[in-house]
Amino acid sequence: MVQTQDKSATQGTSTAQASAETPARPSTQDKSTAQDSSTAQASAKTPGHAWTIASLKREDNRICRLLGTEYPIIQGGMAWVANAELASAVSNAGGLGIIAAAATPPDILEQEILKAKSLLKPGKPFGLNIMLMSPTAEAALEVAVKHKVPVVTTGAGSPGKFLERLKPLGTIVIPVVASVTQARRVEKQGADAVIAEGMEAGGHIGELTTMVLTPQISQAVKIPVVCAGGVADGRGIVAAFALGAEGVQVGTRFICCEECTVHPNYKKAVIDARDRSTAITGQSLGHPVRCLRNKLTAEFERLEHDNAPASEIEALGTGKLRAAVVDGDTEWGSLMSGQSAAMVNDILPARDIITRMFSEAEAILAGVRA
Ligand SMILES: Cc1cc2nc3c(=O)[nH]c(=O)nc-3n(C[C@H](O)[C@H](O)[C@H](O)COP(=O)(O)O)c2cc1C
Repeated sequence: MVQTQDKSATQGTSTAQASAETPARPSTQDKSTAQDSSTAQASAKTPGHAWTIASLKREDNRICRLLGTEYPIIQGGMAWVANAELASAVSNAGGLGIIAAAATPPDILEQEILKAKSLLKPGKPFGLNIMLMSPTAEAALEVAVKHKVPVVTTGAGSPGKFLERLKPLGTIVIPVVASVTQARRVEKQGADAVIAEGMEAGGHIGELTTMVLTPQISQAVKIPVVCAGGVADGRGIVAAFALGAEGVQVGTRFICCEECTVHPNYKKAVIDARDRSTAITGQSLGHPVRCLRNKLTAEFERLEHDNAPASEIEALGTGKLRAAVVDGDTEWGSLMSGQSAAMVNDILPARDIITRMFSEAEAILAGVRA
């Protein structure tokens, strides 16, 4: 186990400092309810205009009930990172583990799914993340259908066609969205829940922060909302739930999990990260990606500043995530990571990460309710 100095030590992590549960009052000119007829939805979730915090307990929590998990936590699909080992470890520990299809060729993806099934304890669910902008997205969809993957999350794009194909088969489909409009659209298209991902997250990102995106989406839809982006400990879970979420999706924290097979250099880079260690590359291409600063991000910044041709910028990124994950190249590899890397201080088994996060959250909530 790697232990380093606690980066948050000076910031004060006492649970006694938490002061979450004061019910927020919706503004009388609430734009998210005024834009359409969803006022009834908001008040259904917020009786008497007092916002409530969903239960973390599996029997009362809609995400746990939907997914059949012990805890309302999803391990985010992470290209090159989220493989059978990681997904099965998270699912066996009581969360929902996800295999990332990314651009994996279908035959390799099938092997990964079969491996995950062999590693899963009986009755444990797992999921597949399909990046809709990937050239292999349609092939991944067919693999999900063939292997009856119980849960599919989708990222970066419009999942309408995927919902049409998967919902009649009984697959639980949970799109990742970065705006209220997308959340409303996927709800209408039949999504079972929605993952509201703020731009603190690692990997491909939108433009809104978790803090403003989550409450707006929670208010705009009836399906359960999972909050992603910046959640790395129990404080993040309580914050997400206070914003209206009923579950969390966590990526960066799970990179530093014992069962995660990324190169040790990658894990060390996450542990060494501080508050301003991430950069956003690819803004000019329209596909911003958050990763840890290194020579690669500096070169991206230089090319983007100089208005280099898109083809040159694209070429710079090619193969770089693999270089980080497989070869441990921390200088020229793409170390995709969220801002929450600054709050990751150790490498633990998935089970310990999850139980620690939820016992912290329970302790904070108990303090608030006392
Ligand atoms: C290395 C890495 C790769 C990622 N790849 C994907 C992906 O292939 N598909 C996707 O939907 N999201 C991807 N994400 C986003 C995660 O699924 C998750 O939503 C995000 O990491 C949550 O925020 P956090 O990093 O603050 O925990 C990736 C994130 C990371 C860190």
